[in-house]
Amino acid sequence: MPSVRIDDDGLRLSYRDEGDAREAVVLIHGFPFTSNLWDAQIEALSASHRVIAPDLRGFGLSDLSPRPYSIARLADDVADLLSALDLGQAVIGGLSMGGYVAFEFYRRHMNRVAALVLADTRPDPDTDDARTNRASMAERVRSEGSIAVANELVPKLLAPKTRADRPQVEDALRSMMETSHPEAIAGALDAMARREDSRPLLTEIAVPVLAIAGTEDRLTPPEQMLEWAGLIPGVKIAFVEGAGHVSNLEKPTLFNTLLTDFLRSMERPS
Ligand code: MLT
Repeated sequence: MPSVRIDDDGLRLSYRDEGDAREAVVLIHGFPFTSNLWDAQIEALSASHRVIAPDLRGFGLSDLSPRPYSIARLADDVADLLSALDLGQAVIGGLSMGGYVAFEFYRRHMNRVAALVLADTRPDPDTDDARTNRASMAERVRSEGSIAVANELVPKLLAPKTRADRPQVEDALRSMMETSHPEAIAGALDAMARREDSRPLLTEIAVPVLAIAGTEDRLTPPEQMLEWAGLIPGVKIAFVEGAGHVSNLEKPTLFNTLLTDFLRSMERPS
């Protein structure tokens, strides 16, 4: 897997880079996953697009961050990656925590965003309760290891039918989670707890946006997505029937159709 050096911290950021089309799509994984979250999308899209999927710092094959970091730093890592690849603009997509990074990327690097894909995410910051829960989860992961987070999160992430019918989806999630370093998990929890409020951005977004949610997503529910995404000018809202919070992994065919239809709708005759 290729990697680039992030100069600020001297760490190596690993990424997938498939397809050689001119239009680039960046897919940013959620918490606490890796670029493998996007395997099915990379396979489906790379015939028509260049698909770039980083392992966020600390996750997958990327180095651990040498210092506490923020969602803003994760967004800057993606910008540094694009610069290293000589890419001016790309479609920026993210699922859940990856969506927080996508919002932040838009705030900090607007002119590099051709379009946004916001999947199973939310623009609002954490409540005080959510921050407290994250702090106790960070303590647990440090004392009990990554498996503690996997055991707690998996039942909340997947639709019950996905768990019953497709055990391989749960296995894929668990293997990404259990191989994530406890310090990366604790660092990301802290970064998410301190993330900015992206709601003021919604009415200002001036690029095409696809907002997607699983109909059974309990963490970022579809009814809430309708409310916030409805504020984005010209947004395309889509639902992944029968999927929970990890809609791209639970229903890859449907998710890929929504994504490719959106990307096709952006194409202009050259
Ligand atoms: C994710 O899937 O990235 C997380 O559920 C995000 C969060 O904990 O807020």
